[in-house]
Amino acid sequence: MTTVINEHSLSLKQRAQSILKANDQGGYTVPTKGLYPYQWNWDSVLAAWGFSSFDVDRAWQELESLFGGQWENGMVPHIIFHKPDDSYFPGPAVWGADRSPATTGITQPPIAATFARKIYDEDRKLGLSRVQALYTPLLRWHRWFMTYRVEENAIVITHPWESGRDNAVDWDLPARQVDVSEVGEYTRRDTSHVNSDMRPKKADYDRYIALVNLGRNTGWDEKKIRDISPFRVADPGMTFILLRACRDLLWLCEELNDDANADKDEIEGWISTLEAGAQRLWNPAISAYDSLDIRTGKYAGSLSNASYLCWYAGIQSSTMLEHLNRVYQQLPYPVPSLDPGHPDFDPLRYWRGPVWPFFNALIGIGLEDAGQTDEALHLKNATNKLIAKEGFFEYCHPQSAQGAGGDNFTWTAAIWLSWIDRGMN
Ligand code: DGY
Repeated sequence: MTTVINEHSLSLKQRAQSILKANDQGGYTVPTKGLYPYQWNWDSVLAAWGFSSFDVDRAWQELESLFGGQWENGMVPHIIFHKPDDSYFPGPAVWGADRSPATTGITQPPIAATFARKIYDEDRKLGLSRVQALYTPLLRWHRWFMTYRVEENAIVITHPWESGRDNAVDWDLPARQVDVSEVGEYTRRDTSHVNSDMRPKKADYDRYIALVNLGRNTGWDEKKIRDISPFRVADPGMTFILLRACRDLLWLCEELNDDANADKDEIEGWISTLEAGAQRLWNPAISAYDSLDIRTGKYAGSLSNASYLCWYAGIQSSTMLEHLNRVYQQLPYPVPSLDPGHPDFDPLRYWRGPVWPFFNALIGIGLEDAGQTDEALHLKNATNKLIAKEGFFEYCHPQSAQGAGGDNFTWTAAIWLSWIDRGMN
């Protein structure tokens, strides 16, 4: 089976490469100019994957600059503020994480080990020393998660921005417990770049800023944050992504180390924990993987695109496959970030309905690896059509394909190059 690649696709390949080159700031890549003017964690990893289709050395540089921002405790931050830029809020002063380079105080989904392995596979000769140098930083990052962020065996987030799915329905109820009384006045910058109907609402932003203030006031001390924050939510996205990343780290451990035993036991322990955590996130009320509020013990009741990362994590589910095929019937451009049957489905508002092409790549990799070939091919072809119709937007309307959010977007270009343009892997 192959995906449909025609002459139009060839010009799309050139456009995708030019987007990566235009967003390249010299060693690191911005997600898109204006809206996101810094280095974002998982955007950067996907940029590296895109670069690896035509410049493997540049791909490694991208990962190296990201891990240049790693904290002493092992955390890899969600943004690295390489150069001051007034077009984004909240900038380094609001985060108050006193270090160089300046960074935020929270993390983002750890897809790096998975894509480091893929980039290594592009050119093992060139990649060997580069992946060897990244192995211990990756291990330290995973260990940070397993030390500070495991509850009920799953991975918790302490800020909606950590999940990458900022305004997902998953966080609505827990975020309501956040005290916003001291947030005060601030000026958002995102809505000067993008239509406000496509972005989180003001009430969401007040909570985002209140949680940044809470973390900053603890000096970004994970133990203190655990003790005082009302927001602590186990996320299927984070849990599935770290589970997959640990499997790939284990592979790297065996590939790279003559005596891998010590790390191997530790990583295998993490895999068993996270497998149990993934099962804990099964919500029987919606028959799907769901977020779990650790403070209240309640599920969110949200079937999101993160729920479909089970295959990416190496977990088969016939029930999730039924959901996926239902959504394929309902929408020409799946997978929506929120199930279309949910009362809050909002097809252009960021993580409350739109389809995110890069997220489809993660789901698609999982389906391919799990041998769900028909579903994988359907998703790749639908994403191919979506990008061919609309171009390289951040996200799109799952019914009409209308492009939304930022344009000339790095990770959409990257997945075109490394996932769609290459056919079935
Ligand atoms: C934003 O600013 O919208 C980002 O998603 C935060 O990471």
